[in-house]
Amino acid sequence: MIDTEFVSVAENAARRGGLVLQQWSERFTVREKSPANLVTEADFESQKAILQTIRARYPEHSFLGEEGLCESRPDSEYRWIIDPLDGTSNYVHHFPYYAVSIGLQCAESLIVGVIFDPTRDEMFSACRGHGATLNNGPIQPSAVDEIGQAMAVASLPVSADERSPAVNRFLRVLESAQTVQRTGSAALNLAYVAAGRLDAFWSSSLKPWDVAAGALIVEEAGGRTTRMDGSRLNIEIPDILASNGRGIHEELQGLLSDVS
Ligand code: IPD
Ligand code: CA
Ligand code: CA
Repeated sequence: MIDTEFVSVAENAARRGGLVLQQWSERFTVREKSPANLVTEADFESQKAILQTIRARYPEHSFLGEEGLCESRPDSEYRWIIDPLDGTSNYVHHFPYYAVSIGLQCAESLIVGVIFDPTRDEMFSACRGHGATLNNGPIQPSAVDEIGQAMAVASLPVSADERSPAVNRFLRVLESAQTVQRTGSAALNLAYVAAGRLDAFWSSSLKPWDVAAGALIVEEAGGRTTRMDGSRLNIEIPDILASNGRGIHEELQGLLSDVS
């Protein structure tokens, strides 16, 4: 039985992180970690607030966060995986599609995931075995079962060029799906698949903090997450296909998995 207090601590931490993002939204400065890979004070301050909140309750747990956070406690089974701002480019351009993402693993299995969108005050949550919710109401994926009727979304690497397999995959799906988007927040994309606002999502360039929470939310909502060839998802490997779990999952596997 998973302690449901984990969920409320994760939600509180995500709300605190989201508040920090909104407080910094008119005064941040931008730095490039690498070309086109942006970071701001808001990323760091949000991570600080999240860590403080969770560590105050669970000082013995391990933590992994995008902004240089790696605290490993070999004697603890629990590891929190934090993206304090997913969608930094959107945030920098005042494009309101970004979120805080917090996942919790126990013995390497994801047990809790929360994604908070501070712009819309939307909290997507899941606890293994208890389903997924949006602002406490149950959510489920869409019923679309043909790729030609689907709205799919991709996360591309920050720097992709015309020769990159990621661009090739995007073009392939573009020819088959009704609509294909690139929105700039992998975490929100996954939350939207879970809530039936998008039908499928894929990427070959994500880190554990981009997908930990969202993968569990999709699964608990009744959707499906795998690698692009249909094999078991491993959040440490940058290869994810998430969908409503209908036939479009296999159709997308066929389009995505043999691209070089
Ligand atoms: C990014 C977003 C984006 C994805 C990038 C990620 P960040 O995360 O999730 O959708 O395409 O690969 O790095 O840097 O904004 O936390
Ligand atoms: Ca991210
Ligand atoms: Ca981030």
